[in-house]
Amino acid sequence: MKDIIQKLEEKRAVARLGGGQKRIDSQHSKGKLTARERIEFLLDEGSFEEWDMFVEHRCTEFGMEDQKITGEGVITGHGTINGKLVFVFSQDFTVFGGSLSEYHAKKICKVMDKAMQVGAPIIGLNDSGGARIQEGIDSLAGYAEVFQRNVMASGVIPQISVIMGPCAGGAVYSPAMTDFIFMVRDSSYMFVTGPDVVKTVTNETVTAEELGGAGTHTSKSSVADNAYDNDVEALSEVRRLVDMLPASNREKSPIRPSFDDPDRKEPSLDTLVPDNPNKPYDMMELVTKLADEGDFFEIQPDYAKNILTGFARIDGQTVGIVANQPMVLAGCLDIDSSRKAARFVRYCDCFNIPIVTLVDVPGFLPGTAQEYGGIIKHGAKLLYAYAEATVPKVTVITRKAYGGAYDVMSSKHLRGDVNYAWPSAEIAVMGAKGAVEIIFRSEIGDDEKIQKRTDEYQERFANPFIASHRGFIDDVIMPNNTRHRVASSLKMLKNKELENPWKKHGNIPL
Ligand code: HXC
Repeated sequence: MKDIIQKLEEKRAVARLGGGQKRIDSQHSKGKLTARERIEFLLDEGSFEEWDMFVEHRCTEFGMEDQKITGEGVITGHGTINGKLVFVFSQDFTVFGGSLSEYHAKKICKVMDKAMQVGAPIIGLNDSGGARIQEGIDSLAGYAEVFQRNVMASGVIPQISVIMGPCAGGAVYSPAMTDFIFMVRDSSYMFVTGPDVVKTVTNETVTAEELGGAGTHTSKSSVADNAYDNDVEALSEVRRLVDMLPASNREKSPIRPSFDDPDRKEPSLDTLVPDNPNKPYDMMELVTKLADEGDFFEIQPDYAKNILTGFARIDGQTVGIVANQPMVLAGCLDIDSSRKAARFVRYCDCFNIPIVTLVDVPGFLPGTAQEYGGIIKHGAKLLYAYAEATVPKVTVITRKAYGGAYDVMSSKHLRGDVNYAWPSAEIAVMGAKGAVEIIFRSEIGDDEKIQKRTDEYQERFANPFIASHRGFIDDVIMPNNTRHRVASSLKMLKNKELENPWKKHGNIPL
């Protein structure tokens, strides 16, 4: 028995070394942690239960029968994050460059299947040279097995991808189907075809970083959500995010004890909106003053900055926040911000997370670039997402809510549960100047008359009262009391039940 135990320990020690000390040193020299170190940072101390440590491939091509590294280049299992169960796979770049083989894929599928059955998030730490070239079609089959599971898990359990090294070719499509992608700056990249192929086909010269680095994907393509400076920072942010999310679609939005008074008044909010309606202000100030302890986990902070999306807690409960940002493009909705917010709203709705919408929107961004780019279809995504969502929806209009954008931003008409407006709200078809230039076109040229008409329009329509006469606004509230009003609305909505008609699935304008 002693011998067998000794043998087991030796086998474990070999497996723990992955591709060997030389390759581990090389990984460290690039500023990267090893696959095992990443898991240690991610999970609560001592909570990791590893599965399939002794798995080996069965490939015999290209002399592979003599090159077996137990574990097959991916470490899998489960553990906890602040006591919450999660499943994890971490690709080991020291073993054949973390490339995905038949058995590497089987290991990933096993933890995905179990995460689905027990209802727990799955976190993938990606660091891989793609398909295991020696295995050919078996490797491609493995990828497709993972893809299929990504789709089945979508909307059932949270799926989080962290890109911590190469991720290229078809391999990018598994992370692309997960809920959140985090990248590490300067050491990770994602692209369908690399710089060499790009050079051959389009004659463009581009580095891997420019083509698919963290900066590119978080600010240009929006493929990735957030970027971090190193592995440790990325993993601690995953911990923070997981802490805010329900474990599956079977759970309600998590509530943890809060020490921040839900009735806290914020007198400074009474002067947040400037007197001049064309002057911007920072909506982030309202977001952080609304949130427990000012804590806001922003999603896609570097993309479409004219809309803010992210998670916060109010009176201990996780909520999704969507807020127009008047500091950028005057808070207009455009193609990018509509897509960004629509995806976020749908995420919240999948996982029973109430949505708080803060509105200051002068309308959709005009221009040929927007029209040719399909703003109609992309704007409709956000409209569709809000209209489809059955989670509690609380809306606060701080200033402008004009035209179609008023309708879109979680209005009463899209089943907004509680719709508030600040006294500074202007709820109208459009701004006074634009309206007067259309309905009094014949008077253009007579500046005095036009000014008078504009003042009249401003006085009559640029306020929250006409909408509240109709019941489209439930109350006009004091800015300083916003946290209390939102918190008590969320409390009232705790047991909200609303179902959409049965269908296989809708046909969102993709
Ligand atoms: C087998 C691989 C491998 C792969 C890397 N290695 N990629 N082994 N299959 N796909 C091995 C290398 O042979 C090397 O082994 C070790 O991993 C480290 O690789 P290096 O090249 O030394 O590392 P580095 O210089 O950092 O470059 C990393 C890399 C490069 C950029 C990822 O290795 C590379 O370009 N690999 C090939 C990428 C690729 O074309 N993959 C297939 C894509 S197609 P030793 O023994 O020397 O340590 C695809 C289709 C998926 O993925 C389709 C899904 C639908």
